[in-house]
Amino acid sequence: ACVQDLKGKRILISAGGTREPIDPVRYIGNRSSGKMGYALAEEAAKRGAVVTLISGQTALTASSRIDVIKVETAKQMQDHIEEKFADSEIIIMAAAVADYCVEEVASQKIKKSAKTLTITLKKNPDILLNLGQKKTKDQFLVGFAAETQKLLAFAKEKLERKNLDMIIANDVSKKNAGFNTDTNIVKIITRDKSVEDVPMMKKTALASIILDRIKSLYNSET
Ligand code: PMT
Repeated sequence: ACVQDLKGKRILISAGGTREPIDPVRYIGNRSSGKMGYALAEEAAKRGAVVTLISGQTALTASSRIDVIKVETAKQMQDHIEEKFADSEIIIMAAAVADYCVEEVASQKIKKSAKTLTITLKKNPDILLNLGQKKTKDQFLVGFAAETQKLLAFAKEKLERKNLDMIIANDVSKKNAGFNTDTNIVKIITRDKSVEDVPMMKKTALASIILDRIKSLYNSET
């Protein structure tokens, strides 16, 4: 059996990618498989946490001890996360949330006609940014940063602007890291700007390290 070092802790985790509809049969999506977020949820539950998983698109199924809420769009993800937020002590946003959605979703299938087709997008809410503004001192908020360049600079900027306690910087251009792989390579950055390099490992093993780091900071800061 596993150490029950998160026993009773209420943890809210998001995973997978959102899908933004274009018309009844098409959507804008991304390459997130849900593996990173599900690994965090399973590991937290094993350690005794009470886990709610807000899940975008994925082929995975979570074990029965996890309360899973499936969503499609960023807006739906936001609604469910905001509903659970006040009651959560630790919140981890591992989902790949679409930054934009289609301004006018077509009610019928768009027919093929002109040589080019323009779809206008509008900005989605930034879920994590809103959580950072509402966070109390008893809550520990963790984001991810999926970057293809300037990893540390962009991740630190997100940590600061979104008022996070920790950010997992993920260079998604690296082989064996990021979207739809079983492994990941990250840097864990905390509020004091200290950076921990985590070498390539299974997302399940990384989930355990991330929860270890959260646990020690959560105990010391709150
Ligand atoms: O699912 P996998 O295939 O296992 O892949 C894992 C992963 C690459 C998706 C994961 O490790 C990861 O990096 N997740 C964050 C992806 C992302 O949307 O990153 P971002 O840098 O665009 O966003 C920064 C943070 O803000 C993220 O915590 C994101 O969840 C959050 N966000 C982003 C946009 C938005 N509208 N609302 C948000 O809350």
